[in-house]
Order: sequence, then C-alpha cells, then structure tokens
Amino acid sequence: MNPSTPPRPLLAALQDRTESVTVWGAGFIGLSAACALAEAGFSCAVLDIDEHRVREINAGVVPLPGFEDVIPLADARSGGRLRAATPDDTAAVAARVHLVCVNTDRDGRPVTGPLTTVLTAIGRARTGGETLIALESTVSLRWLDELVPAALDADPTTEASLHLVAAPRRDWMLSPDMNLRSLPRVLGTARPESLPVARELYDAISDVVHPAPDWRHAGLTKPVENLYRYLDLVLTNQLAEAYPGLDVPEVLRLAGTKWNVPTFHPSIGIGGYCIPLSPRFAVDGVDEDTVLPLVTSAMSWDGDHPARVAESILRIADGPIGILGLSYAPNARIVEGSPARRIAEHLLARGADVLLHDPYFTPEEITALTGARPLRWPDDLGSLGTLIAATPHALYGDLPSRLAGLQNPPTVVDNLGGYGAALRDTAVRYAEWGTPATRP
Ligand SMILES: NC(=O)c1ccc[n+]([C@@H]2O[C@H](COP(=O)([O-])OP(=O)(O)OC[C@H]3O[C@@H](n4cnc5c(N)ncnc54)[C@H](O)[C@@H]3O)[C@@H](O)[C@H]2O)c1
Repeated sequence: MNPSTPPRPLLAALQDRTESVTVWGAGFIGLSAACALAEAGFSCAVLDIDEHRVREINAGVVPLPGFEDVIPLADARSGGRLRAATPDDTAAVAARVHLVCVNTDRDGRPVTGPLTTVLTAIGRARTGGETLIALESTVSLRWLDELVPAALDADPTTEASLHLVAAPRRDWMLSPDMNLRSLPRVLGTARPESLPVARELYDAISDVVHPAPDWRHAGLTKPVENLYRYLDLVLTNQLAEAYPGLDVPEVLRLAGTKWNVPTFHPSIGIGGYCIPLSPRFAVDGVDEDTVLPLVTSAMSWDGDHPARVAESILRIADGPIGILGLSYAPNARIVEGSPARRIAEHLLARGADVLLHDPYFTPEEITALTGARPLRWPDDLGSLGTLIAATPHALYGDLPSRLAGLQNPPTVVDNLGGYGAALRDTAVRYAEWGTPATRP
C-alpha cells in the first residue's frame, strides 16, 4: 500500500476477507480459531513461543496429542491461508486484527504473564489506526479493567480506533460436536461502536452469537457459567462427606430423576483447568468475604478435599495402591488439574507405596509428574492391595474381567462408579466413591 493511502476501514476489509488475522497461542483454543477463520476465508498467522508447535503446524501436524481428529488443520491449510510463526514475525504482530488465545493459567492458578506480554507487543506495534483485539482467553473482570489498559497503554473504553472484544470460549474439546461453530458464542465490546466489526469476524465462524451489553458482561460470563458447575460439584462431594452411612451416589441418582436436577456423582476431585479455576477468576477484584461467601467457602473446603480423600483411602487400603488414569478426562492427555495427581501426592506424603498408570503418559513422565512408581498395565494389577480407578480411559474397558480373573484381586475404589455393574457378581471387593464402603 502507498504510505499516503489511508487504510481501508476495518469493517469493509473484514467483510471482503482481505484483512489478515493474527492469532496468539497455538493451543487448542488458538489453533481451532485459526482453522475456523482460515476456512471462513481469512488469511491467518498463528503465533506461539513454542517453536515445536510452530514447526508442527507448518508441517501440517496438529501439535496436540489426542486432538488430531478434532482440529481440521489439513482442511484449513489446504487453502493456503494458515501459517504459524514465532512472535518475532513483525508483519503478524503489526496486523490490525488479533485473537488472543494464550494460556491464562499455570499449575492450577490464573496467571497474567502471557496475556500481558501479548497485549504489550500488540500495543507497541500499533501505529494509531484501527485495531481489533479479541480476548478468547479466560479473563477476570479486574484484568479487563486494569491489566488490559495498562499493557496496551490505551483506554479501550474511550479510544475510538481500538476495538476491544471479550469473546470467551466454552468448547468441550473432547467432543467434536461441541465446538466453536456449534456452541452459542457470547461476545461483548469495550465500546458499542465496535460491535459491528466484532460481529463481522465472529458471525463468520460461529452459528449463533449472543451480543453482551459490553465486554465486562461478556468476560464475566465465562467464569460464572463454570462457577455454577463448580459449586454443584463441591456440594456433591460435601454430601458424600456429610452422610458417610448412606449410599450418596444412589441418593443423587434418585434426586436426578427430578425434572430440574442433573445427576451428579461424588469424586476424588474436580479436574481440569476450567471448572476448578472458575471461582478464582470470579472472585478476582470482588470483595470476596462479603460478596461471594458461598464461593470462598467452597474453594476453601475443596482445597482440603485431596487430603480428606487420601485419608479415607488409607483407611481401606491394604498393600501397594495403584491408580489408573492421570488425565482428569478419559481418552485425553491432560495433566492440568489432575485429581489423581493430587491424591497420589497426598498418599505418598503419608508414606504409601503408590503406582500409577495412564496410557497417555510414559512411565518416566508418570514418575516426574507425580512421584509415584509407574504401574505396568495390566501386569501389575495382581500385585496391588488397592486400585483407585480414577479415569475410565477406553483402554481400561476390560478392567472388570481382568480383575475377576486374578487370584488375589485388589480392592477397587471406583471414582465414578462405572465398573460396579460388571463387578457385582464377582469376588472383587468393590467400593464406589461416596458409598459407605469408602467410609469405613
Ligand atoms: N482448552 C479449552 O477447552 C478451553 C476452553 C475454554 C477456554 N479456554 C481458555 O483459552 C485459553 C487458551 O487455552 P488453551 O487450552 O488453548 O491453552 P494452551 O496452554 O494449550 O495454549 C496456549 C498457547 O499459548 C502459547 N503462549 C504463551 N505465551 C505466549 C506468547 N507470549 N506469545 C505467543 N504464544 C504464547 C503457549 O506456548 C501455548 O502454546 C486459556 O485462557 C483457557 O482458559 C480453554
């Protein structure tokens, strides 16, 4: 472009797809967004500090084990509109449209570093023209109010050339049907004038867009929707503690027959990096003691849950304790927020002999991540005194028949109760988590 020619209005350039988009972060969220945008006709650069991820993407490989079939990288690349680079790619950093999809958590806690770094880089590269920055990463209200303006060195609520958008994601990455296109998308902008520009981008990749009154309302939606689930799950675990003489899973199954009550199951812990973090994002910036006492009390109780679970297990354990499943979700490699990891650490700290297996982690990774000895599946099953079935990976589908065939099977502590029916008429001692058998 001739330097004297004023740039085209952003809305028009988005409408005819001549505007390039820079996506920050090549994790599940960034890469899936970039693929969707490329398929919708936008040229996309995905920036990541992880050079391995960058190389893999440019070689046509989805760098996220287990998600190769969920992220349509090959389709997106076939049009030649998607490339990956590191953040020293000055052309991509100077783009007018940015999707920020970097991690905002580490080791189970919200972190601001990656978001601050990215926004600072975008702010420095701005030359004063129109810039759209959509925050897909999970954020707190305080971050919108304080961190974003400070990092950008600009006030998004008043500066007319800035279009700041909060567009949180709610994908369930293990289900290809619950994705960025199919799930209703909430978005809000810092200034009302930015909404048409933001909608041009998001209507291209999401079937249903729900505009929020502004970016603060949109940003808070994400922690709040997950907070409802978090509180339900904490309550579920509290009920199991409160009624040790009752089959609480059965009570919850019966309660779930009511039209407005979902069926919950007590567990050894709440896993992942969305639900357990939601209260931290929700209370950030709120006078937590007076305004959200229910949330702070749940967080405090939940923080002690792994220790309680470990104590209960040690009361029924006999001999080496095996754990099946490190990843909190079945058939995926996700160590973040792993309840099995927390329980293993507490058991080890109390002197127990703990072995752990997960098909998505090498034996070396298991030991490095948890301190437990690697459990050889299925060879070691017969040498265990107790087996915690933490995560029902597909590989463990024949666990009941394998246990039933052993001379001295371990006592099974079943986190989610899925193996009970198949073990009912066998000699295997079985304790579904939350029943009196787990509270001797
Ligand atoms: N994964 C999900 O299902 C999901 C769902 C809803 C919301 N979210 C939110 O979306 C965000 C991203 O999640 P994710 O699962 O994709 O995370 P992720 O950790 O898999 O990916 C984040 C990527 O950002 C990169 N990164 C960090 N700092 C960077 C920088 N300065 N410049 C460029 N890249 C940088 C990291 O190297 C990493 O590859 C988080 O805020 C998360 O809470 C995730």
